[in-house]
Amino acid sequence: MRHLSSLYSLLPLSKYKSISSFPFSLFMAPAFEENTALDPPPTSHQSLSNAAAAAGVSNKSKVTVVGSGNWGSVAAKLIASNTLNLHSFHDEVRMWVFEETLPSGEKLTDVINRTNENVKYLPGIKLGKNVIADPDLENAVKDANMLVFVTPHQFMEGICKKLVGKVNKDVEAISLIKGMEVKREGPCLISTLISEHLGINCCIAVEKLSEATVGYRANKEIAEKWVRLFTTPYFIVTAVQDVEGVELCGTLKNVVAIAAGLVDGLEMGNNTKAAIMRIGLREMKALSKLLFSSVKDSTFFESCGIADLITTCLGGRNRKVAEAFAKNGGQRSFDDLEAEMLQGQKLQGVSTARELYEVLSHRGWLELFPLFATVHEICIGHLPPSAIVEYSERKSRYSS
Ligand SMILES: NC(=O)c1ccc[n+]([C@@H]2O[C@H](COP(=O)([O-])OP(=O)(O)OC[C@H]3O[C@@H](n4cnc5c(N)ncnc54)[C@H](O)[C@@H]3O)[C@@H](O)[C@H]2O)c1
Repeated sequence: MRHLSSLYSLLPLSKYKSISSFPFSLFMAPAFEENTALDPPPTSHQSLSNAAAAAGVSNKSKVTVVGSGNWGSVAAKLIASNTLNLHSFHDEVRMWVFEETLPSGEKLTDVINRTNENVKYLPGIKLGKNVIADPDLENAVKDANMLVFVTPHQFMEGICKKLVGKVNKDVEAISLIKGMEVKREGPCLISTLISEHLGINCCIAVEKLSEATVGYRANKEIAEKWVRLFTTPYFIVTAVQDVEGVELCGTLKNVVAIAAGLVDGLEMGNNTKAAIMRIGLREMKALSKLLFSSVKDSTFFESCGIADLITTCLGGRNRKVAEAFAKNGGQRSFDDLEAEMLQGQKLQGVSTARELYEVLSHRGWLELFPLFATVHEICIGHLPPSAIVEYSERKSRYSS
């Protein structure tokens, strides 16, 4: 195996300023040769599939990635390296692109298909020739039987509405999205939003550098299929039967990352940051279990839990922009800083904090979750950045 440091030099580090925010999954080029994730032995059903294939009817699973931002493009690349090696999948991976016109005047989709690179969201990285960018959402999903949803969460309701009646009924979905929709009745996880709108099963996957956790509800076989699709020698994927726990870990840690970034901007040091992360983890676990009694404690010790929380609080876009917000004394808005610092990438922590605040106030739980509540009040300018340390621990009345 090549030494990792020699591989760093091959990649566009503008997006990955630190090792902690670096997607090790990009080292998938060798996976074309090295991936040993073989399909399981054929079942009788698969023998029939083989017969069907011989008769010219393909039963291979066809994957479409709905989304093409930074993580969407990484996911498409990773999946496309595996579909080439796994016989039960079609080689081609379609990637739906929210069409944009680049400063050159060209359409982003055309450039991706011409250069095999998402020049805006993942520059310098070849996606694999079997990734086909498609700006037409309906066309992108029409033949798929495995859908990977990976757009910023605020766009998902609109996307789901457009897809009603357009996807195959037996399609399996997975969401890589961190965030939630807030409804009057309470929070709605994105996997639930997808399932309810489209009438399909939806798993969840949360990534942390070189590993990921797939959360599934009931069907372990489907979960294992997703694990095969995502696993490479450098990207270890495990499945746990706890959709809500995995999804809430991925969603709530972005709010804790905002708190960690504020502490960094205030230059309060590692002890304070560790305390904020500890309080954040406690609130993540307590809220998840209050919302869904089925959530398992053990999920917080999977890569989607403590490991992803640490990564996000040490690097990552939410931490980075919150640091700048605190350094500016809260005088420049998060929207302003996001537009300047992220070049089209979206912050999730600020909108999730707002949605969370609505849930907490609606249920009368604000005092139980002082860190979550304080982050939102700082984001909207009701409290100064320094309130993150003054309020987070002092008001905490919850012990879990
Ligand atoms: N599961 C994981 O482990 C993991 C890791 C990183 C990110 N994520 C999540 O993946 C999701 C997507 O993040 P990303 O990094 O790929 O995106 P990004 O922030 O890099 O890019 C934003 C994307 O949104 C698109 N967009 C802009 N306006 C839109 C609209 N009106 N409708 C639809 N799309 C629009 C842009 O074209 C672009 O593709 C987020 O929820 C993020 O939290 C997940």
